[in-house]
Amino acid sequence: MIRFDVFTLFPDVVRSYFEASVVGKALQAALLEIQVHNIRDYTHDRHHTTDDVPYGGGGGMVMKPEPIFAAVESVLGDSLGSVPILLLTPQGKRFTHDMAQDLASQPRLVLLCGRYEGVDERVRLHLATEEISIGDYVLTGGELPSMVVIDAVARLIPGVLGDAEAASRDSHARRLLEHPHFTRPAEFRGWRVPDVLLSGDHARIAAWRREQSLRRTRARRPDLIPGAALSEAEREMLDRTSEDDPG
Ligand code: ADE
Repeated sequence: MIRFDVFTLFPDVVRSYFEASVVGKALQAALLEIQVHNIRDYTHDRHHTTDDVPYGGGGGMVMKPEPIFAAVESVLGDSLGSVPILLLTPQGKRFTHDMAQDLASQPRLVLLCGRYEGVDERVRLHLATEEISIGDYVLTGGELPSMVVIDAVARLIPGVLGDAEAASRDSHARRLLEHPHFTRPAEFRGWRVPDVLLSGDHARIAAWRREQSLRRTRARRPDLIPGAALSEAEREMLDRTSEDDPG
């Protein structure tokens, strides 16, 4: 059981995704809990102001620190200081499967979604405990990134995925890309499923999948190969097949 607390100016966006997805089923089964908090509810002025112009001038708006601190402090109470507070920002550490696994061992996580040009630096310095980026591109806010992080963490919680092994088998969990998948029909528009998959020979199928996975990883993500646990025979197989094998 993990509890996620998301702080955002767009709570409906975050709620609606999780209600509809596989994660929604896990919420119903109480395998996890997601509380979404509207930062605007923690403003005290008449206009419910959450952003302001940047000191020093320049364009854009900056999210004010007071409502963010007030929201997180009010929701966390005595737990402040013991719960990781993740700020989603393109300046953060790049999110990976290993990070998802570390986060999945926590009982509770806070996610702060920034908007506009950014959030006041004091939020980063004195409230957030970690900064996470989901990739080298800039989005309009931290909502999608927070959903990406929650989704990647949630599927590692036992019971969330239907197939108990699915999370440990898939790409990145094993530091390799997955083998290709086929389902029926065996022939579609003249394109046939590889014979080996129809053979019923489980050992041969496993060997084929492993080779496909290795070749595909080498072709598309050669950077993953040095960190992968390959046998001597597998390294030789990769050496035998050409460098420009399309995988
Ligand atoms: N906010 C805007 N872009 C982002 C990104 N790439 N990762 C995390 N948060 C963001």
